[in-house]
Amino acid sequence: MFYDREREIEKLNSLHSQPGSTFVVIYGRRRVGKTALAREFLRDKLGLYFFVGEKDEALLLEEFQEEIEKNLSEYLPSYLKLKFSTLEELFEFILDFSREKKIVVVFDEFQNFRFVKPLFFSSLQKLWDLKKEESNLTLLAVGSYVGMIKRLFMDRKEPLFGRVDEFMKLKPFDFWKAYGFVREFAGVSPQDFVELYSALGGMPRYLLYLKRYYSGNARKTLDDLFFDEFAPLTEEGFNVLKLEFGRYYRSYFSILEAVSLGHVTPKEISDRTGLKLLTVGKYLSELTNHYEYLIREVPATENPGKTRKVAYSLRDEFFNFWFRFVYHNYQHVEEGDFDTLRDDFEGNFPAFVGREYEKIVREFVRRSDLGFKPLRVGRWWHKGEEIDVVAYDRKNVLLMEVKWRDLREREALKILENLQRKSNIVPLRGEKKYGIAARSIEGKEDLREEGFLAVDLQDVINQRPLCPSPLSGSRQSIPPA
Ligand SMILES: Nc1ncnc2c1ncn2[C@@H]1O[C@H](COP(=O)(O)OP(=O)(O)OP(=O)(O)O)[C@@H](O)[C@H]1O
Ligand SMILES: [Mg+2]
Repeated sequence: MFYDREREIEKLNSLHSQPGSTFVVIYGRRRVGKTALAREFLRDKLGLYFFVGEKDEALLLEEFQEEIEKNLSEYLPSYLKLKFSTLEELFEFILDFSREKKIVVVFDEFQNFRFVKPLFFSSLQKLWDLKKEESNLTLLAVGSYVGMIKRLFMDRKEPLFGRVDEFMKLKPFDFWKAYGFVREFAGVSPQDFVELYSALGGMPRYLLYLKRYYSGNARKTLDDLFFDEFAPLTEEGFNVLKLEFGRYYRSYFSILEAVSLGHVTPKEISDRTGLKLLTVGKYLSELTNHYEYLIREVPATENPGKTRKVAYSLRDEFFNFWFRFVYHNYQHVEEGDFDTLRDDFEGNFPAFVGREYEKIVREFVRRSDLGFKPLRVGRWWHKGEEIDVVAYDRKNVLLMEVKWRDLREREALKILENLQRKSNIVPLRGEKKYGIAARSIEGKEDLREEGFLAVDLQDVINQRPLCPSPLSGSRQSIPPA
């Protein structure tokens, strides 16, 4: 069963349907579904799938040749005996073949050519430049290491610089897509799904584990997936990231660990890791801009280029969880002491999910019709104060608090009251609306009648409109409790 990726397939089809040759790079974090996407795209087309293993050229050529024979034999004269002695010969053959017939060629794990034959990058470039005008080839290079792929194609000094027509960065499924995916094979409640998503993110590969590992209890599932001698995901962070960072992975890892623990400013990260502030700055910028593992956030009211109030966070739910609960305790893993990991998980996972739920709600707000088109949607903080969701344009301001709890009406009112107090120090003008999001809210309808926005998990998961009724003219004062 292949799920979604409709926009990606559509884009690939539209590139492929144009006459001539085109060079597309599909990249993205390991396990995100690049191979599955490339194969799905190939399914109804004449094409060749080559997996670039770390082997020597002769062995690879044997495999590639088999793939050609399997797929193209009916188009080749029977007397023709294929025999390639170099990758260059093979690639030239494909380019020539495509003069007569449009064809797709996928090189999966393209970056591995550097182990097989580093010079191939430059010969591929020469052949491409020479022949692409006359041929009809859709060339897909698929690669897993974001940093490496960027270097290979976006660095001026590299031969393939400037040859790519389309870069497609494949992202994990978003929260809603991921839930749809999981529901095709497992009956997971929305509440459990928020917990599972907080740890696994929208990664198809990890979500597929729920087929075997989910039996009605999210915590138990995560326990089995991470905190056990035979758990399949305990080592996953190493498997996926070590190669990305190479020899100096430890410094990158310690920074990611610090961020996952809630040390989010350069100063805090430097204090935590013992790395110099200047060094931390360099790593942070690399991790944010080049590798794209971190996000640099500023309060929603501040200019991102000017403010010094920054907070870093991990983009990927899985890495965030893995650094926080596995890598952080790795010394105990090595001792086979999983109880310490479990205790940490039991004690700190609820707050961890709370932060993830805030993120989900912000995304929900971003997609909702607010009655105005916000210039920005984000978090806001100043000194000790914080507001979970702030959205505004020149005339309207929406402020919301998010709780991963089941709220009584009184609690909800208290939170809203406090929010109104805090709103006075937010440097924004305009008509203010106040709202609250929680797992469930007692008296949700009453609050709405009072003019507040109130959403629970059911609203979020079903993407129900945030503003069910027009707010103008509604009362916004707190009634006596
Ligand atoms: N759109 C999808 N629908 C259904 N299953 C998917 C989808 N995308 C990925 N998967 C499944 O998730 C798993 C990981 O996907 P895949 O192997 O394509 O990822 P990848 O990005 O190529 O990872 P790697 O870096 O490990 O090669 C596979 O079992 C695959 O079948
Ligand atoms: Mg793959």
